[in-house]
Amino acid sequence: MQVIQGIKELEKFRSSLGKQEQLGLVPTMGALHAGHLSLLEKARQQTDHTLVSIFVNPLQFNDSKDFDKYPKQVEKDLPLLEKAGCNIVFIPSVEEFYVQQPTLSFQFGYLEAIMEGYHRPGHFNGVAIVVSKLLNLIRPHKAFFGEKDLQQLRVIQYLVKDLSMPVEIVPCTTLREPDGLAMSSRNMRLDTGQRQRALQLNQSLRKAKDLLGKLPHSEIEELIQKDFSAEKLEYFSIVEKMSLKKCSDPFQNKEVALCIAAFIDEIRLIDNIIVSS
Ligand code: PAF
Repeated sequence: MQVIQGIKELEKFRSSLGKQEQLGLVPTMGALHAGHLSLLEKARQQTDHTLVSIFVNPLQFNDSKDFDKYPKQVEKDLPLLEKAGCNIVFIPSVEEFYVQQPTLSFQFGYLEAIMEGYHRPGHFNGVAIVVSKLLNLIRPHKAFFGEKDLQQLRVIQYLVKDLSMPVEIVPCTTLREPDGLAMSSRNMRLDTGQRQRALQLNQSLRKAKDLLGKLPHSEIEELIQKDFSAEKLEYFSIVEKMSLKKCSDPFQNKEVALCIAAFIDEIRLIDNIIVSS
């Protein structure tokens, strides 16, 4: 496994690839878990060379405390990647990656006004800048993103389509712990009690799924609100899977996404499930 830190070295690697060789990118912010490794596995199956980037992107944190506390453990990540058969790891420094504060900014219309976009102002601009730069520098044939960050996935799909970027975005299913908790780097920050309370997110999603088609969406949303009397629910929304627009009642023959974000003390977690009728 080759570890690349500089952009010049990255360019050298990229230009060494033959025309027929397919490159797969798995962008990450490190603190890797089995969910990331499942993205890597999918990339390995679909491409000839896999490149994992590790970069905790300061631009996408709307809360500086969240950035400071975001788990950083490259020394643990590298052996995991090596064992999982990754070919190249790209770990740029902030100074090298952002030679200047970007002047460009992105807006994603409706997607900025709902759920993550509404609660984390500027977040998707930061994501779009880092992902655009990674795609331009690395020029992968395919890039792999988890469905746990469903709204991020949609933003990236629109970004790539709007700018005709020559890359295929491959969505990857969310991996869960046996008790249902969606895998996330932020789970590392939970103590035992918080870890138990965090199960509420997935439990609420499953409860809502069972109620779909039986109750109007507004009533389901109210019930889920009540479940969160102890934890701070930021949003629970029933939306159409692709557009992420609010679904009309009653549940019609559509695939819907149930999306949730909540704080367990100061740790913000998100989850979603996709349901077809
Ligand atoms: O999902 C993440 O880990 C990040 O948002 C990403 C896509 C690596 C961009 O920094």
